[in-house]
Amino acid sequence: MKSVFIFMFCLLCTSGIDAARILGVFPMPAPSHYFLGSALMKGLAEAGHDVTMISPFPVKDPPKNGSWRDIILDGMMEDMEEKFKKIDLFTMQQQSAFSTILFLNFMGQSTTEKTLSHPKVQELIHSNEKFDVVIVSQFVTDGLKPLANHFQGHLVLFSNTAVNSWLNHLVGNPTLPSFHPEVLLGLPKRMNFFERLSNTLFYVLQRLNLELWAYPKQNALSKKYIPNAVDLDLVNRNVSLLLLNSHTSLFNPQPLLPCMVEIGGFHISPSKKLPQDLQKYLDEAKQGVIYFSMGSNLKSNRLPVEKRDALLKAFGKRKEKVLWKWEDDTLPGQPPNVKLGKWLPQQEILAHPNVKVFITHGGLLSTTETVYHGVPIVAIPVLGDQQMNARGAEQAGYGIVLPFPELTEEKLTSYLDEIISNPKYRKNVQARSRIMKDREVTPLQTAVYWVEYVIRHNGAEHLRVAYLDLAWYQFYLLDVITFIAVVLFIALILLKKTISYVCRRKSDKTNTKTDKTKKTN
Ligand SMILES: *[C@@H]1O[C@H](CO)[C@@H](O)[C@H](O)[C@H]1NC(C)=O
Ligand SMILES: *[C@@H]1O[C@H](CO)[C@@H](O)[C@H](O)[C@H]1NC(C)=O
Repeated sequence: MKSVFIFMFCLLCTSGIDAARILGVFPMPAPSHYFLGSALMKGLAEAGHDVTMISPFPVKDPPKNGSWRDIILDGMMEDMEEKFKKIDLFTMQQQSAFSTILFLNFMGQSTTEKTLSHPKVQELIHSNEKFDVVIVSQFVTDGLKPLANHFQGHLVLFSNTAVNSWLNHLVGNPTLPSFHPEVLLGLPKRMNFFERLSNTLFYVLQRLNLELWAYPKQNALSKKYIPNAVDLDLVNRNVSLLLLNSHTSLFNPQPLLPCMVEIGGFHISPSKKLPQDLQKYLDEAKQGVIYFSMGSNLKSNRLPVEKRDALLKAFGKRKEKVLWKWEDDTLPGQPPNVKLGKWLPQQEILAHPNVKVFITHGGLLSTTETVYHGVPIVAIPVLGDQQMNARGAEQAGYGIVLPFPELTEEKLTSYLDEIISNPKYRKNVQARSRIMKDREVTPLQTAVYWVEYVIRHNGAEHLRVAYLDLAWYQFYLLDVITFIAVVLFIALILLKKTISYVCRRKSDKTNTKTDKTKKTN
């Protein structure tokens, strides 16, 4: 009996790993980034690990298992809000993708510097703490990745976007601009010639920006604030695992390497109860509810007035109720069927059967949640990847895109009518929802498994792709092509020489013959 007990105990020991020390670095002062990061880190703590998280926000409901420590980058969010006061996000969609790159460079450098120079982070850097794994949010703050080497942990990256050309080269997955649309261009999955041309040119521009501008700047920041920091170039080629916030239910499938693991939807928790007043409001909406939210970065109270009026007029004449995430106490001209909420429990609202349509900015979190709960969308994309997500929803037949500059009362009315009256949108989104839920284990379990896998296999170097050890000209076979070209060239010259030599010999012979004949004559 005792031996059986010991045997069982040992089975338990080998099935998992001891509590690991895991550091999460999610410094972006944007609620959606924090939301994803904390969902991942909490999942790891719930699995029994000892988790430390660096981010601008304190944890809302701390995990019940494992241990949890927050390192809060205070002042970061306030700084960013101060900066954003001058930048109107609603007009940013008129910017070119190129100026978005410049904007992201600037955001990245400022966030990296503020994080590394923060007194609490400096204290951690100068402590003797070690971590088994360091998970860094892979966005535009590459200079934070050398922290993994500093704390002697394996480097795991988390990307809040699907696979794209900023990620591929880090793990050695080739990017082909023929069918990998650039995130910022919002191109369709099947591109025509001109789309492929602009995609290729933008890809090259974007890579040059990273290699010649962004990475050197980020490298300099990590050298400045991390003692004996390893060169970013080496760190960038030494990623153990890349977790992707995507899933085939949301995006066109693309080639992935074994170390690239899709965990899209992992942040979705089983629906909690709605607050009583909202539950009543939704239950009683027999004609249905339109839910409208532009996410956490785009404040609806900064909507241009004419757009706001268009929305109010379109909403005021509908028979459905409208639930609007609005950050002020009052909304001038608020129609009686519109209810406002400064903060609304989005997942629980989308889960309610009376919600007919979601008017969204098309952010990836909102898109994932709407697909999970099977609610069709009208997407009004404004920034970054929203255009791409919105086009994806339109192509998959569960949404209609309404570009922000084209937002008028008439267009919104006709798109809402179409989505609500035509059953195809709901059917398509529910089919996608079933695909999203059809998984061996939950995406959060997948994430925990893979992080533990990296620890169990000491960095999982066996997953490393040989591409990472090649120079770019070797990867594109330029050396081989040059060699073949040179050999062919030499061969051609030799051939030419030989032919002219043989010809000359022949004509010489004939000449001598004719000479001889001439002489004998
Ligand atoms: C809680 O953590 C312990 C290790 O500290 C682990 O063995 C256990 O499985 C965890 N519980 C859950 C519910 O994950
Ligand atoms: C690369 O990663 C491995 C495994 O995590 C680690 O042992 C090694 O120190 C890292 N090397 C560099 C140069 O970052």
